Amino acid sequence: MRVTSLRLRNFRNHTDSHFEFGEGTNVLLGDNGHGKTNVIEAISYLCLTKSFYTRADSLAVMFGQDVFEIDGVLIADQGHVYRIRIAYQQSTGEKLFSINQQHTEPLSCVIGKFPIVISSPEHAPITSEGPVERRRFVDFVISQSSPIYFETLLEYRRVLKQRNKILLDAKLSKRDPGPLLLPWDEQLVRYGSYLMMRRGKFIEEFQQFISSAYHQLVGREEEPTIEYLPVSRIDETRSEEGFQTLLQTQLRAKGVEEKRTGSTLVGPHRDEFLLKINGRELRKFASQGQHKTFLVALKIGEFFYLKDRCQETPIMLLDDIFSELDEHRAKRLLSLVGELSQTFITSTNPHYFDDTMAFEDRNKIFHIQEGNSVAQNTFAA
Ligand SMILES: Nc1ncnc2c1ncn2[C@@H]1O[C@H](COP(=O)(O)OP(=O)(O)OP(=O)(O)O)[C@@H](O)[C@H]1O
Ligand SMILES: [Mg+2]
Repeated sequence: MRVTSLRLRNFRNHTDSHFEFGEGTNVLLGDNGHGKTNVIEAISYLCLTKSFYTRADSLAVMFGQDVFEIDGVLIADQGHVYRIRIAYQQSTGEKLFSINQQHTEPLSCVIGKFPIVISSPEHAPITSEGPVERRRFVDFVISQSSPIYFETLLEYRRVLKQRNKILLDAKLSKRDPGPLLLPWDEQLVRYGSYLMMRRGKFIEEFQQFISSAYHQLVGREEEPTIEYLPVSRIDETRSEEGFQTLLQTQLRAKGVEEKRTGSTLVGPHRDEFLLKINGRELRKFASQGQHKTFLVALKIGEFFYLKDRCQETPIMLLDDIFSELDEHRAKRLLSLVGELSQTFITSTNPHYFDDTMAFEDRNKIFHIQEGNSVAQNTFAA
């Protein structure tokens, strides 16, 4: 998959910007605050119908305007052309998404259709903070490659919300939730065990993708691992039935505590994924450069995983990936991503690109200045 053209109107600080991208590496260069990340965000709107970092579409409308419009052309590996248009109106809150002039709804049906992989400073918490961000990462990758997983996840969230409400209401009114919980327990076990089985399988398969990416960036002296750690250790085989038994046992064991806290304490919403380098937990011991390298390895792993599963090459969006990396790692990263697919890289520093890349039709440089872009295949003096 690749984006051949993009037009932004009243989107963030872009009044009217037009891009014709190359098939290989597209570098967005410019000083801080000039609108590079905004271009990456617009590409995420094309492929995911939404921003990769803010939930509120209204924030993306240019100050003082009412409507933003994004038009783009995507071409699939097999040559199929998709003309995508997205328009959001702040005053009505209405968002229109169309593919080849056909209005598309619900927006969730676009998930996985146009695979992209994004690495941005917004994702740093995946390696450095609590399990929420890692669960979100894992859910996002599996969902892009499996609509059933995504649907089950939505069902699970619905069940969790209902179950939490019953527990909290009971706690507040000092009553026993009793049989009210039973149907929700059954659904929690059904959807939860499926999600856990898929997460376990995913981590098993994903390990090799991370190792291979990490080794290409660093060499073999550092060994990255990712481990799936459900709420409590499971000794049986990690089958769906194994997880069903685990969840049923835990629901019984935690019943009293759940009533005391008024919330669901058992299920995949409490899973952890441990990231390690040479057997040591990243979150506790790693340097900033190791964090960044791991994050980029996760993203390159995601790229190869999705390429394999979706039968469509994802687009790579790499926002500000060089900070914290030493020159050696940065150069290896650049030559690695240059071979992957169509890639977008933002940077404030032209120096990374001067001797590594030939800029012709395939690779392009765009100088972004105050929401305007100038395409150039050479560096400005
Ligand atoms: N809704 C909006 N309307 C107009 N301008 C906006 C809006 N939202 C953000 N901006 C402006 O966009 C600019 C930030 O753009 P962006 O994040 O793309 O910068 P950048 O080039 O990636 O910078 P950096 O190198 O610091 O990451 C800021 O000047 C900000 O004021
Ligand atoms: Mg930026």
